[in-house]
Amino acid sequence: MMTTTATASPFTLTEEQLAVRDAAREFAQELWEGVIERDEHQRFPAQQIKRLGELGFMGMMVSPEYGGSGLDTISYVLAMEEISKVDASTSVIMSVNNSLVCWGLEQYGTEEQKHKYLPRLCSGEIIGAFALSEPEAGSDATSQRTTAEDMGDHYLLNGTKNWITNGTTASVYLVIAQTNPELKSRGINVLIVDRDTPGFVCGPKENKLGIRGSDTCSLMFTDVRVPKENRIGADGFGFKFAMQVLAGGRIGIAAQALGIASGSLELSLKYAKQRKAFGVEIAKHQAIQFKLADMATNVDAARLLCLQAAADKDNHADYAKSGAMAKLFASKVAMDSAVEAVQIHGGYGFVKEYHVERLMRDAKITQIYEGTSEIQKIVISRELLK
Ligand code: CAA
Repeated sequence: MMTTTATASPFTLTEEQLAVRDAAREFAQELWEGVIERDEHQRFPAQQIKRLGELGFMGMMVSPEYGGSGLDTISYVLAMEEISKVDASTSVIMSVNNSLVCWGLEQYGTEEQKHKYLPRLCSGEIIGAFALSEPEAGSDATSQRTTAEDMGDHYLLNGTKNWITNGTTASVYLVIAQTNPELKSRGINVLIVDRDTPGFVCGPKENKLGIRGSDTCSLMFTDVRVPKENRIGADGFGFKFAMQVLAGGRIGIAAQALGIASGSLELSLKYAKQRKAFGVEIAKHQAIQFKLADMATNVDAARLLCLQAAADKDNHADYAKSGAMAKLFASKVAMDSAVEAVQIHGGYGFVKEYHVERLMRDAKITQIYEGTSEIQKIVISRELLK
């Protein structure tokens, strides 16, 4: 029987979930070392990703049969929050690998595809990328210009993908492409493309505002031959695949945003108790207390939404709406909390050593990727109006 430990939330976390959270919190302390330099020089956290793989955090929800940790989505949310408190670049690499690549492959791949890719993706030996966005198809994801022409025993892939997380460092890519434009979203396929396939090249790393340790780039495909056995699901399943994995991915990004917000709060609490102004610690001033109270309230509310979405997914309930709500709210809380953290830190908040300026830059992307805040509102309102 599973033993439980009460918490201050309506979610009673199991001992296993608490152990995952504690292990992630402990690992996150390792991330402080070099986090400023990785951000400044856009250096990929290769060692840290290797450690994440060793600890079982790269394939958290994958069954042990395929080399994963066999954990639930709640554990994943708890781990994402802890790691994102310190380094949101590392956590986005982890999130894309877990939610978009591993989950999609395990859920919809063939046995052969799963055995071929999942053990190495889960161990951190290789990482994966998910390629949906294009120069003219970001929010409007059905307007895919990349084509996967059916050539009988293989597809011929041509086109360009944009803003691909893990773009230059991945070994395996799940690429969404149009096979039959007349069928619109039902003519789209998802193909597994190996990094070394001839005709596939990566563009230069983007020079980004935030999450600078993670690499983002364009992908160019010119007459790339992809064997038919690399298609995931039936012919035309690609768009539904993308929507399904993104629905789960949004829970991971919501938890990333939550971590940025709770990290901002923790750093602010620490600073407010140390810094003196007008003869006392600034925590004694009501102006600071009000900010801390607002931040803490919003962080708790965001955490509840993240846990709700994760619980919906674990209980096989519909999580498109709860995941979109969690992402919409948590990403706003991340942005607001990080801005307030900089304000509480004053001039020190504006320099790198105090970390909050990085959290503020990192927060912004959570309102953009895996669907902008506006897209989340579309998803939520569609579910409401069904
Ligand atoms: N699950 C399953 N199927 C779904 C679905 C879901 N959650 N959502 C939609 N679908 C299905 C619909 O039922 C429909 O199927 P039928 O044709 O059989 O009826 C089909 O998909 C098309 O749906 P819509 O007509 O609703 O599509 P739309 O063009 O109106 O777009 C949208 C809907 C919600 C706006 C969608 O385009 C969307 O989510 N856009 C945002 C894309 C996005 O998140 N991009 C981020 C890129 S990835 C990324 O950022 C990763 C990273 O690097 C970190």
